[in-house]
Amino acid sequence: PFVVTDSCIRCKYTDCVDVCPMDCFRQGPNFLVIAPEDCIDCSMCVPECPVGAIYNETDLPGEQRHFAEINARLAAHPDWKPITRSQAPLPDHEAWRDVANKLEFLEQ
Ligand code: SF4
Ligand code: F3S
Repeated sequence: PFVVTDSCIRCKYTDCVDVCPMDCFRQGPNFLVIAPEDCIDCSMCVPECPVGAIYNETDLPGEQRHFAEINARLAAHPDWKPITRSQAPLPDHEAWRDVANKLEFLEQ
């Protein structure tokens, strides 16, 4: 499956959700994840993300490996619901889009 990584946190642009043929995306307060059991590896979401947050699990950079587990766990969270249409990014997205290592800010 494909995996949403650190760059998405506190930005949540949501362009990715409009193209997913399987409605894989689940939404939390300041991050999205992909439900791994639903993803068919089409890769259509990858070029839609303006911050390059989405990777094939097999191509995850080393420092992003832990996001495979995070996507799987949060996709099963009862409060993380499907999102299938894009919405406005988070208000502070411009300030956070180039910040690295935002995991400490992930709200669950
Ligand atoms: Fe959806 Fe395809 Fe992206 Fe998987 S790779 S989340 S199926 S758009
Ligand atoms: Fe996140 Fe990029 Fe989608 S910032 S919400 S993975 S378009």
